[in-house]
Amino acid sequence: MNKKECIAIPTETVYGLAANAYSDSATSKIFKIKKRPKKNPLIVHYASLNMLEKDCYLNKNFFKLYEKLSPGPITFVLKLKKNSNISKNVTNNKKTLAIRFPKHWLTRKLLKILKYPLAAPSANISTKISPVSKEDVKDEFGKKIKFVLDGGQSKIGLESTIVSLINKPQILRLGGTQTSTINKILKNSLKFNKKNKKLTVPGQGKVHYSPEIPIRLNVNKPKQGEAFILVKKRKLSSKNFYYLSKTNNLRQAAKNLYKTLRMIKKKKFKSIAVEKISNIGFGEAINDRLIRASKY
Ligand code: TXA
Ligand code: MG
Repeated sequence: MNKKECIAIPTETVYGLAANAYSDSATSKIFKIKKRPKKNPLIVHYASLNMLEKDCYLNKNFFKLYEKLSPGPITFVLKLKKNSNISKNVTNNKKTLAIRFPKHWLTRKLLKILKYPLAAPSANISTKISPVSKEDVKDEFGKKIKFVLDGGQSKIGLESTIVSLINKPQILRLGGTQTSTINKILKNSLKFNKKNKKLTVPGQGKVHYSPEIPIRLNVNKPKQGEAFILVKKRKLSSKNFYYLSKTNNLRQAAKNLYKTLRMIKKKKFKSIAVEKISNIGFGEAINDRLIRASKY
């Protein structure tokens, strides 16, 4: 990978649009291609603690979570070191850095040979649906990016959970690691509080993950011509019905969510109805994404 290049990479959560996190010119390409506001900082992807230590201060809570959950779908917000080489574009000049160790073997292999970490937001145009396959990335950007590393469909299918470890640990974004898993490790009772603006991340705008079609939530019966998204199997079926899981499994439903929204968009439905999805386990993250997608 060229030091100044921007390419798409597979991760277990979603595909990322990646560039050398130490380079101003490489990282500025990410913002341009994604049409991302400059004030929205990026997550930096690492494969080794040695490299991370050059950029961030690591603390006890970080080591506890890192040991059990990395590599995997969790992002840590840490204090940035003054002498770090991370480009100012990545942090928007702030003193904190969001970092993660992705699990996908191909991207780990790439990170291990590079001499720099990779800044990578999800590989979609800002506020649109995140990509979970190389086809999705091509859908988003066409010829605007030269290389997409093909790693198959993302296994988790939702972005990483973001936890701030700056002072008291705080969950900033729900995602591929459940809050209960983090609480068990930290012996804590953290909760995601979507109403507390201070605790949300800069990029979690009201509209996000949007297929650009109106979405109605908690629906029992869809209207004529509406696509209907379901988790639980029903006796009735129709060609407008899209099941997120075969067995009422919320982990599987999370994996299929973005893929299904993209498919419905391609089929040119004018609106989407979604049945009530229980707010437990991965249901919490699914509902978070659907609520934002419905603000379109
Ligand atoms: O699973 C993921 O996390 C994927 C894959 C590609 O790794 N990446 C991802 O990146 O979801 P992105 O840019 O789409 O979302 C990152 C979120 C943004 O909402 C951003 O505002 C927030 O992380 N963020 C970045 N740096 C931060 C920081 N220092 N403090 C708080 N939030 C931060
Ligand atoms: Mg994103």
